[in-house]
Amino acid sequence: MQRILVVDDMATNRELLQNILEDDFAIETAENGEDALIKLQEYGEDMAAVLLDLQMPRMDGFAVIAAMKRNGWLNKIPVLIISSEHAAEIESGCLELGVSDFIHKPFDASIVRNRLKNTLDLFAYKNRLEETVEKQRKTLRHQDRIIQIQAERLKEAEPFDRLMMEYRFAIMEVETRLKVLNEEFSREYKRNPIESIRSRLKSPESIYDKLRRKGYPITVENIREHLTDVAGLRVICSFPDDIYRLAELFSRQGDILLLRKKDYIQNPKDNGYRSLHLILSVPIFLSNERKYMKAEIQFRTIAMDFWASLEHKLKYKKDLDNAEQIADELRVCADSIEALDYQMQELRDKIDRNERNYAAIGAGY
Ligand code: GTP
Ligand code: MG
Repeated sequence: MQRILVVDDMATNRELLQNILEDDFAIETAENGEDALIKLQEYGEDMAAVLLDLQMPRMDGFAVIAAMKRNGWLNKIPVLIISSEHAAEIESGCLELGVSDFIHKPFDASIVRNRLKNTLDLFAYKNRLEETVEKQRKTLRHQDRIIQIQAERLKEAEPFDRLMMEYRFAIMEVETRLKVLNEEFSREYKRNPIESIRSRLKSPESIYDKLRRKGYPITVENIREHLTDVAGLRVICSFPDDIYRLAELFSRQGDILLLRKKDYIQNPKDNGYRSLHLILSVPIFLSNERKYMKAEIQFRTIAMDFWASLEHKLKYKKDLDNAEQIADELRVCADSIEALDYQMQELRDKIDRNERNYAAIGAGY
């Protein structure tokens, strides 16, 4: 049932209108302008129409119309004036103010009902039209935005693709140099310091996210300037001392610039995370220029890598109820892993010494 508000200082008028309309509407009443505004405040646009007397104490009908206009209600809620005289002057004044129609005294039930019904139909139609127009306006605005975004992307796409290609070249460059070191080392010491190398190019989504987090606009220049891990490599080594040897040899190469070293093996993170991170500037050689690209290498032992993968998985499981206990156990595991790594390294040294002794004995014969 639609709700209407009957505003009249005369109780008989309120009662008469209520009797005529109460079968079809939920009826609120007010006996002066102030009460009417309070009711409107309460129901807002849930009020389908206002039947309004003009002459009332405290606040009259004109003041109510003015207030409704100020609040933007007059566009949404039709007002029908309850009047006893057919004074053309007053009526045309009211219409100019935005009033919809008039209900004259003495009330004729069917005229009151019909006038109200017509007014409500008209307003419903008008509101629907306005909604449609507003929807279309929104769609247009949305389409405009999409076109704008696509245009921006298009502008960016070519340089972005080129930049990603250059980061791929940086990964290839680093990977080749690491493999060279590995092979040379293995020829000399009969074992591989590198177990495996994994590489990844940061995804556009992660790039966008990280730049936004750092508060920089998404541009090719900002990616180049402010992100150090678009080109990322993970080097899994057999023993801790291999990590330091490789990192040292690599960052000492003449054309490589070590920008930062984060030694989470000497200084593990609170959660137990251990790895050696190098942030480097490495050259790539293009057809007509040499360019420097940033790259991040993480060196870890097999055991540290095993730990980090598991810990990484748990980090993304948000609602573990025993999260704290798991974190504690992980920390303990990280410490055991470190002890194990160094123990294995000592064992390797013992075996190596034995081998060298045998070789020396062999050479003596
Ligand atoms: P990010 O914004 O995550 O890159 O961190 P950051 O730039 O401050 O540098 P940080 O040295 O802390 O981390 C660099 C990278 O090391 C991360 O992206 C992870 O790949 C890895 N890493 C760092 N801390 C942890 C950790 O606690 N657990 C695991 N599993 N990986 C870590
Ligand atoms: Mg990172």
